[in-house]
Amino acid sequence: MTAAPLPPLQQIPATIASLSDYEPYARARMTPPAWAYFSAGAADEVSLAANLRSYEAYGLWPAALASMRDAGTSVELLGHTYDYPILLAPVAYQRMAHPQGELATVLGAGAMKAGCIISMQASCRIEDIAGAAHAPLWLQWYWHPDRAFMNELLARARASGYQAIVFTVDAPVNGLRNQEQRAGFSLPPGIEAVNLRGSHQAGAVMGPAGSSPLFGSGLLDHAPGWDDLRWLVQNAGLPVLVKGIMRPHDARAAQECGAAGIIVSNHGGRTLDGAPAPLQVLKSVVQAVDVPVLMDGGIRRGTDVLKALALGARAVLIGRPYIYGLAAAGAAGVAHVLHLLRAELEVAMALTGCPSLASIHEGILFRPGREP
Ligand SMILES: Cc1cc2nc3c(=O)[nH]c(=O)nc-3n(C[C@H](O)[C@H](O)[C@H](O)COP(=O)(O)O)c2cc1C
Repeated sequence: MTAAPLPPLQQIPATIASLSDYEPYARARMTPPAWAYFSAGAADEVSLAANLRSYEAYGLWPAALASMRDAGTSVELLGHTYDYPILLAPVAYQRMAHPQGELATVLGAGAMKAGCIISMQASCRIEDIAGAAHAPLWLQWYWHPDRAFMNELLARARASGYQAIVFTVDAPVNGLRNQEQRAGFSLPPGIEAVNLRGSHQAGAVMGPAGSSPLFGSGLLDHAPGWDDLRWLVQNAGLPVLVKGIMRPHDARAAQECGAAGIIVSNHGGRTLDGAPAPLQVLKSVVQAVDVPVLMDGGIRRGTDVLKALALGARAVLIGRPYIYGLAAAGAAGVAHVLHLLRAELEVAMALTGCPSLASIHEGILFRPGREP
C-alpha cells in the first residue's frame, strides 16, 4: 500500500531554494500513476536525460567590472512586452496535479506577469482559464480531423482573448511512456480534456499504449501535414507558432507556411526517445529563420535560460518545474517557481556582464577546448 497523497502546502518552506527542491514536495502530493504521467519521458528516457545534461556542455565567462546600469530583462513577443523571457509551456490535465489545475496555474503566472500557454488537453474550460488570468495566454493546438470543430474552438479562443495559437507538430501519436505503463496510469475519474468534449476524438491525437500495432489502425490517417499548417495559419485569426520543430529545414518550411514563431522542443523527451536535446539544435534553427525562435526542454536554472538566450532563443518555456510548484503549493508554488528562475537569470546576467537581453551573445559561453 502506498500512502495517500498529501494536501497542497499552505506555506512554502524557506528551504526551497531552487526549482528542483519542489520535486519531492510534488511527488508526495500525487498518486504514483500521476507522478509517472508528469515526470516520465518516452521509453528509456534518453532524450529526457539529454535535455537536462545539454546545459552542462557550456560554461559561462564571468565578466569583470561590467556596467549593469539600467539593467532589465524585458522582451517583445508578438507585439507584447513581457518583463522577462520565461513562459509556461503547455502541460495537459493539470487538475491531476492540483484540484484547481490550470486555474491555479494562470493565477500564479499572472502574479508574476508571465505568459502562459494552455494545453488543448487542459482539464479546465479555456473560457474559465482566461477569466482567471492576469497575463497573456496562448492556446496550444493539436490537429483535429473535424475542421468544423476546430473552427468552433478557434472562435472560442479568440472570443476569450487568447493571443496566439501554438501548433504542436511533434506528437502525431503519443510517445511510448513506459514509466506510465508500469505505474498503471490512466486518467482518473473526473479528469478529462473538457475543451474537446463533444468532438468525436476527445483525446486529441492519441496513440496506442504500445501493445497494439499502429500501422493499419487508421490512427495516422488524420495526422497533420504542411497543408494543414497552412490551413491553420489562414483560419486561426491569431498568430500561429509551431512547437516541436528540431530541424532547420522544418523551421524554414513552417516559416514559409506563415508561422509567426518557432518553438524548438522535443516535448520534454516525451515523444521520440533518441531525439537530440533542443539546446543542441537551437542555433541551427535560429540561423534558418527570421521569425522569433523560442525553446524548451530541461530548463531548471537561470544559467540554463541564459545559455539558451546566448544561442539565439528569444524566450524559453518551462514545463515540469511549474507543474511541481503547482502540485506542491498551487498558484503560490507556480509564482514562486517563476520568481526563483527569474531571480537566477538576473544573477547570471549580472555575473556575465549582460545588462539586457539584447546584450546577451554567444561569446559569454565557455566551451572547454575552445578558449579564446
Ligand atoms: C506531463 C506533461 C504534459 C504535456 N502536455 C503537453 C501538451 O498537452 N501539449 C504540448 O504541446 N506539450 C505538452 N508537453 C510538453 C511541454 O509543453 C514542454 O515541451 C516540456 O515539458 C518542456 O520540458 P521540461 O518539462 O523539461 O521543461 C507536456 C509535458 C509534460 C511533462
